[in-house]
Amino acid sequence: MADAEGILEARGEGELPPEGRPTRKKPIKGADTLDWGMRNRLSQLIRDDGRCQFLPIDHGYFQGPTHCLERPGETIRDLLPYADGLFVTRGVLRTCVDPDEGTPIILRVSGATSVVGKDLANEVITTSLEEMVRLNVAAVGLSIFVGSAYEKETLQNLAELVNRCEGYGIPVMAVTAVGKELSQRTARYLSLSCRIAAELGAKIVKTYYCEEDFDKVVSGCPVPVVMAGGPKCETALEVFQFVYDGLQKGAIGVNLGRNVWQHPHPVAMMKALNAVIHVDATPEEAFELFEESRQPGKAE
Ligand code: 5RP
Repeated sequence: MADAEGILEARGEGELPPEGRPTRKKPIKGADTLDWGMRNRLSQLIRDDGRCQFLPIDHGYFQGPTHCLERPGETIRDLLPYADGLFVTRGVLRTCVDPDEGTPIILRVSGATSVVGKDLANEVITTSLEEMVRLNVAAVGLSIFVGSAYEKETLQNLAELVNRCEGYGIPVMAVTAVGKELSQRTARYLSLSCRIAAELGAKIVKTYYCEEDFDKVVSGCPVPVVMAGGPKCETALEVFQFVYDGLQKGAIGVNLGRNVWQHPHPVAMMKALNAVIHVDATPEEAFELFEESRQPGKAE
């Protein structure tokens, strides 16, 4: 039984130390005025340094059993400790990811096209709001294809998803996809896509890095930008170099898939990338760490 006796009286203003204003623990671009739940979910994905390393394993949603992702649960087992978020569809989440894992989930909720179909851009929203809540996701992700035959439909998908998620405090990550047109990775195109995504309400945007004017892509986008990987780079050093450069130019982190789990030393890649992202290691320092941590005896 609750004891009503001996309750001490609350202290008055004069007896209390000066009240500090609640301050935000970490910098998240465009997120200072978000409602509590929305901010809290975003915050689960971004560390105190304002940076993040996401691990995407959603590739199967349009390309089937991708090389090194045939058994997603096994691919990620040793990588998850280094990931700040896992980008995954509900099917792989339910079948391959332990719900007791602490890694926050970014649920891929667009799809319904395939590499053998007519047009990769013809996506729809694949997952209900109830499902997003049931799976306790930290965010959801959807692709937009600016400039494609399905520009309008994919932008409508984004706007509709934001409309649905806003009331439940679920952040939407927009993925500026280019389909098979990798040549579209210019600052001009990427700036356009990122800005449109943010204007439609995305709370975070995933886009490609480009060598020229990447700072303009980031500065034109009022929400955080994370870098996707694209096709596998020739060397690990090349990966560290573009990630380092992108971070210097304002990106807050990465969402790298194939350059991590298709590498013969994926754990060493995750560790080294973590150092670039969270410890400001230079590409050369990261490469040294990579060399130290890769398993002895395994070929490069
Ligand atoms: C697929 C995606 C992937 O998450 C994204 O492309 C990152 O993976 P990778 O580094 O392998 O390109 O959105 O549509």
